Amino acid sequence: MGVAPLDAAVGSKPRVISVSPGQSAPLSRKPAAAAAAVTLGMMTPEQGEAFMRRAGTAESYAGLYACVREATAATAEELAAAPGEFPAVRKPRGIVAAMVEVDLAYEHLGAIRAAGWKVPADHPDLVPAAEAGRLADHLRYSGEDGAVKSLGADFERRLRASIERATALEGALAAGGAGPERLEALWKPVAASCKECHAAHRDVRGK
Ligand code: HEC
Repeated sequence: MGVAPLDAAVGSKPRVISVSPGQSAPLSRKPAAAAAAVTLGMMTPEQGEAFMRRAGTAESYAGLYACVREATAATAEELAAAPGEFPAVRKPRGIVAAMVEVDLAYEHLGAIRAAGWKVPADHPDLVPAAEAGRLADHLRYSGEDGAVKSLGADFERRLRASIERATALEGALAAGGAGPERLEALWKPVAASCKECHAAHRDVRGK
């Protein structure tokens, strides 16, 4: 069963928070929708947490559960002052913008890796599984740039493989219990996918 879109009409501004169903949906989006729903006064924090559990958010996302638990409904004034647009995800346009986001998530994962696959002491805001999810997301967005169609089937195959590898890492981080060796074994193919695709499709263009 997928997760139904959450719809709300707040004042005169309709807002829709939709959460894609299915396994490919990034785990990190569902808590965001739950926290937003609490803020909009559509759900109590308890309902938000229950929604996250139904959506399959692993208990290891302690920070995200806390975020929903601690969310409070916004006042009518706050909602009125908020912009009417409410994009479900920030989606950059074009492969370069997507790769910049990929690179940021990749750097964060590098810091997480250097901390022994734990939240780095100097970066307590990082949620390891969410960073891997972000990496997979932005790789996916990079493939939505019309210009990449000209890169052909090899690019598509490499991109799909890279997304699958990042998603496998995300899954292991979200499930918890995987030791550093297992995480290292999942990380290496992700890192290799960047270098290999760049060698085949980026660096050959004299960039
Ligand atoms: C399937 C192919 C593919 C994969 C996988 C891939 N990239 Fe890229 N990347 C590209 C291409 C093609 C460009 C050049 C885009 C352009 O300039 O039009 C690029 C550009 C970039 C850029 C430069 C953006 C800029 O400012 O010009 C960065 C940084 C980057 N990639 C990081 C990464 C990282 C980190 C990974 C792995 C987690 C990765 N990429 C995985 C194909 C890929």
